[in-house]
Amino acid sequence: MNEYKLNKQEVINLKYFKLRNKRSKRVKPVLDEYDFTKRVTAILGLKGRKNQVREIFSAKTHKGLRINPLLVNTAADVKKIRDELIKQGIDAVHLTWYPDGFIIPAKDIPAVMTLPMSKNGLVFVQNPSSFLPILALDPQPGEKYLDVCSAPGGKAVFYAGLTRGKSLLYLVDDNYFRVSKKMRAVLESQKVTPEEIIICDAKNLIKQKKIKVNSFDKVLVDADCSSEGKINFKSKNPLKQWVTKSANQFSHQQLEILSIGYEALKPGGILVYSTCTLSPEENEGVISRFLKKFPDAILQKLIFDGQKTYKPIINWPGQQILPDVKKTLRIDPRDQYMEGFFVCRIIKSLIINESKEGLINKQKNNNFVNEVVNLDKLGKKFSLLKNI
Ligand SMILES: C[S@@+](CC[C@H](N)C(=O)[O-])C[C@H]1O[C@@H](n2cnc3c(N)ncnc32)[C@H](O)[C@@H]1O
Repeated sequence: MNEYKLNKQEVINLKYFKLRNKRSKRVKPVLDEYDFTKRVTAILGLKGRKNQVREIFSAKTHKGLRINPLLVNTAADVKKIRDELIKQGIDAVHLTWYPDGFIIPAKDIPAVMTLPMSKNGLVFVQNPSSFLPILALDPQPGEKYLDVCSAPGGKAVFYAGLTRGKSLLYLVDDNYFRVSKKMRAVLESQKVTPEEIIICDAKNLIKQKKIKVNSFDKVLVDADCSSEGKINFKSKNPLKQWVTKSANQFSHQQLEILSIGYEALKPGGILVYSTCTLSPEENEGVISRFLKKFPDAILQKLIFDGQKTYKPIINWPGQQILPDVKKTLRIDPRDQYMEGFFVCRIIKSLIINESKEGLINKQKNNNFVNEVVNLDKLGKKFSLLKNI
């Protein structure tokens, strides 16, 4: 295997992280939180009020819950589920942009888990930020869906649900434990049967002939990341995960996996790249490098008014970010319910040739370029309950 060559900036980062890890053994909590605060202050453009970052990342008091569209079939049944939650003393509030999803107090999650609706797979606990990549894919029955970082399967089961079980799911993950324990349990509880589960490093999917190029209608790359959007200062050792790998280290793997996902996509197919991190290196940086590598990829503008968002980051030290990435979407960690998230929708160009068909495809490509994808509208389209 070729050894990855570090560029100048990364060598500096690596030295910095080695040094920092050494130092952090002595003064870990203070040093990590200082670094995290400095970084998040820059990303969110905060004015530096003391403890502001700690407050943002300690504030979530609510969690998301959604119905399982495979088992709940009518708006009346969605209402019944909410009525039952209210009857149990759980203050479930419909999401305006996806009324089949609710916000519930985090303290009530253990009680929800004991209810028959949870045990029978009628509902699923999931942060609403995770609904967005699947809505952005606009799932349709009959499609071949590839999920290259799939475990524990929360997004895959939502995809299956929105196609009412009429899609072919190919679920990939390299973590045997997460697949065999967690994902199998999620699939079973939600009554989802995938076409295939592939335990493999996604980077080798094509090389090892596990999948074919140009063969999937929809691809999700919900990449492994530094998870900055999920950090919770109320938990024990909240930055433990964050210090172990640098954003730059993650970004190389993300670009490689995104490239494989794109190769697997059919021309005209849709790929969604998402992360739960704030890191520009892992979001706009990866997408910019990807667009340079695949000039035929078309980025589509995502809009979402349902909850708090903030602008994509186009100036960041060490990153050459293309202006087109303004079309991507960032969910603000300051939102009351949503975790910090990044979502981006990519179309693979249709093959252009000189024939009449080629000209038609050229027109379709132009339409793809100009299309604006409204996630609020998609949320309403897929909800059984249209009005709340
Ligand atoms: C953010 S999680 C995915 C969450 C999942 N999409 C869901 O909604 O439940 C990222 C996943 O990527 C997997 N992963 C990391 N590196 C990988 C690789 N090289 N190939 C395949 N999967 C990988 C991790 O094991 C982890 O399960």
